[in-house]
Amino acid sequence: MIDIAIMGHGVVGSGVAEIIYNHSKRVSEKAKEDIRIKYILDLRDFEGLPYSDKFTKDFNKIVNDPDVKIVVEVMGGCTFAYDYVKACLLAGKSVCTSNKELVAAKGAELLDIALEKNVNFLFEASVGGGTPVLRPMAQCLTANEITEVTGILNGTTNFILTKMIEDNMSFEDALKLAQDLGYAEKDPTADIEGHDACRKICILASLGFGKHVYPEQVKTEGITNVSLDDVEYANGFGCVIKLVGRTRKLDNGKITANVYPALVSKDHMLSGVSDVFNAIMVRGDEVGDVMFYGRGAGKFPTASAVVGDVIDCAKHLASRKYLHWNEGEADYVASSDNDIARFYVRLKTNDSNKTVKEIESKFSNTSYIVNADKDEVAMLTENDIEITLKNQIGSLDSCEVIKTFHVID
Ligand code: HSE
Repeated sequence: MIDIAIMGHGVVGSGVAEIIYNHSKRVSEKAKEDIRIKYILDLRDFEGLPYSDKFTKDFNKIVNDPDVKIVVEVMGGCTFAYDYVKACLLAGKSVCTSNKELVAAKGAELLDIALEKNVNFLFEASVGGGTPVLRPMAQCLTANEITEVTGILNGTTNFILTKMIEDNMSFEDALKLAQDLGYAEKDPTADIEGHDACRKICILASLGFGKHVYPEQVKTEGITNVSLDDVEYANGFGCVIKLVGRTRKLDNGKITANVYPALVSKDHMLSGVSDVFNAIMVRGDEVGDVMFYGRGAGKFPTASAVVGDVIDCAKHLASRKYLHWNEGEADYVASSDNDIARFYVRLKTNDSNKTVKEIESKFSNTSYIVNADKDEVAMLTENDIEITLKNQIGSLDSCEVIKTFHVID
């Protein structure tokens, strides 16, 4: 018998309790031990549940109980969650969490404590929700040198962009629909401004390249600047607009890490990922490109990944799992200025003929769309060093640059 505690009884926490309670036989068979929920920590009261008697408001009961070997943290945030997770690891308990904010900010430190205490700190649900990606990266792909991870990491923004692309819905209407359907929070900032995707690319980069990447090191742009006009131009160029998190290894040992809206070619495997789905493409030197696809959010998909971690912890109580990375460094994440890039550029002009001539004289291999109704020219550059392209775009003087987005082929 293994006693566990669940800290937090919100959407994911209640899903974890329900899976363990309703499927106890299956869970215990897979763990090769009976798994029993001993405590559920929450400040609220929950009457009428089959496990209402498990609730406590006192964290000390959990951390001081030697019978509790595994603790699930699904409270979210980085204040109490950090203090409690750290205390549990220091007390010799394994911890499983879905909390991307916590792992992105404190992952290396918490993994070090887990190593020192010979316990496990697992967080499969923190990236991709129910979609397995961290364990496959750390185990199945471990013979590879990872060179790039690019993903659609946020379900809410992917839903909004899908509505804009497929139904010609405005950003505002699509956001409202996402809120009505319960995908987006009342305050949707973390999703639409890219902070959620930023935390997830931090975790993927840290695991993929072995050194912690902190959220403040990732240049992050959300989708509030994407309009239906951009969606239409993108379609004209054979692309769809997606919010992507992207991290790449450079030859000098540093990495780049960014979150931005990008025009993704319809030939690219990420372009067909729609609605609230997530997908993460991992590039390894031996395997090439692999993609992990599935539900990136939601009660039971996310809870199933947490319970998978609980079962893994139960099977490895006396040994540590593979998961680890080192603390980061201030200058480890480089600007992507020296990386290869391609841009979509949207230009306002009074004289489209002159602008087209200027584009043709300053760039090679561009494609462009002239929109006479709006006095605009939209163009795609060729692939080149990012700073070279930025300088070329900045030198255009027959027009005004309205916006630029990256292009992913
Ligand atoms: N708000 C997030 C999303 C939930 O929409 O993907 C999972 O992090």
